[in-house]
Amino acid sequence: MHQDIKKILISEREIQSRCEELGAIISRDYAGKKLVLVGLLKGSVPFISDLCKRITVPLQMEFMDVSSYHGGTASTGQIKVNKDLDADIAGHDVLIVEDIIDTGLTLHTVIRMLKLKGANSVKVVTLLDKPEGRLVELQADYIGFTIPKEFVVGYGLDYQQYYRNLPYVGVLKEEVYTSKEV
Ligand code: PRP
Repeated sequence: MHQDIKKILISEREIQSRCEELGAIISRDYAGKKLVLVGLLKGSVPFISDLCKRITVPLQMEFMDVSSYHGGTASTGQIKVNKDLDADIAGHDVLIVEDIIDTGLTLHTVIRMLKLKGANSVKVVTLLDKPEGRLVELQADYIGFTIPKEFVVGYGLDYQQYYRNLPYVGVLKEEVYTSKEV
């Protein structure tokens, strides 16, 4: 698996240290609030797992699984909900946890859905932000790292469902795209 990586963009150490910093900021901002972390499956799993341990205020954890239809127009942002929240989030302060924001279409719709469920507030923390990819205007409230328009894998991000378990974020070698084996 590691041999398929051309270069490491963000190391394990950098990710862990940023989780610590973000956890401290989020703990300060959500003191006294009814915090619910909402992880979007599957990419956010490693990030939410490390981040939640760095947050020192009480919180609930919920997960959603959505599929995007990026074929439509930019403003539609149609998504299919494969798994919805288990808990009622009305009156709670929701912090969506994402691995990456690219076009912004997924979050654009998810934020609207969570507001409709009666959340008191809906904010976003993303490990990676790729602002050059945006098709809709969307700004995360907390950002781990801003990256260029490059295809990345690892730490939750996949290529054909593999590489999510890499402890860092990296760029795949070109030959991997043409080979079936990973
Ligand atoms: C990825 C990622 C975000 C979304 C970002 O999810 O985890 O949810 O795409 O892209 P956007 O800003 O262009 O909408 P994906 O649908 O690949 O599912 P996964 O998390 O299971 O990999």
